[in-house]
Amino acid sequence: MNVKTILTYINYRLTSYTEHDLHSPFLYNFYMELIRNEHPFGDFEILNTLRKQLQKDTTSITVTDFGAGSKKLNSDKRVISQIARHGIAQKKQAEFLYRLINKYTPNTIIELGTSIGLTSLYLSKAATKSTVYTIEGCPNLYRYAQSLFKEHQSKNIQAIHGNFNTELPKLLTHIKSLDLLYVDGNHAYEPTMNYFKMALQKKHVNSIFIFDDIYWSDDMQKAWKEIFEHKDVTLSLDLFYFGIVFFRTEQKNKEHFVLKF
Ligand SMILES: C[S@@+](CC[C@H](N)C(=O)[O-])C[C@H]1O[C@@H](n2cnc3c(N)ncnc32)[C@H](O)[C@@H]1O
Repeated sequence: MNVKTILTYINYRLTSYTEHDLHSPFLYNFYMELIRNEHPFGDFEILNTLRKQLQKDTTSITVTDFGAGSKKLNSDKRVISQIARHGIAQKKQAEFLYRLINKYTPNTIIELGTSIGLTSLYLSKAATKSTVYTIEGCPNLYRYAQSLFKEHQSKNIQAIHGNFNTELPKLLTHIKSLDLLYVDGNHAYEPTMNYFKMALQKKHVNSIFIFDDIYWSDDMQKAWKEIFEHKDVTLSLDLFYFGIVFFRTEQKNKEHFVLKF
């Protein structure tokens, strides 16, 4: 983290809400079940063991950068262990996504940014009857993830190789509706806004869109602000690591909360 991000993080910690500040039953339950809950699911043990294995994997691959790059990894030659430590959702974040999917059981999930595929496995195991579409531009990462999915017999993952810019619109025409979108790649203003606007076409009142790294840059903060201010968004949650938006029409007044993660 640079100094600016550290200050932003301190401000976030000082101003974020906990369960004691939440009055709506929807939000209180969301917080208690998905953020405060430390009860592990059985799958966490397997996924955690796999995470530890990946963090020791010395396989070296050449990465083709399709997005805004990485702040920690800046060479095109990468070792899987580095990616597993610095380039993917951390354990706490991935477990939160698992809990969220397990609670709301979205049928159709899109992940933008597969990388080595570990988080896709969390998404897939959280709701085995759902379909998880995951898109990755780098051919070597795509191949690596494919072999991980095979090894773990994840039958509900549809891995797509290609650029989000071309693959997302194609995929959206192919699916009936989009229940959960997880944007975790190409963290720049324009692409993020484009993916959001494209995905809006297939959203419904119970859709959930999640944006990773909303504090990655000024550009991402700008994109996140525009997303949560969008007229169709009725509830937005800032968890620092994630920005989450809902389109629930039961929510009469548009609300935005910063929650301690
Ligand atoms: C942060 S990583 C994804 C991590 C993964 N979701 C996880 O937590 O395990 C972002 C990935 O998105 C891919 N990516 C970025 N921009 C892309 C684009 N425009 N098209 C396709 N892939 C892209 C990168 O190659 C990278 O592997």
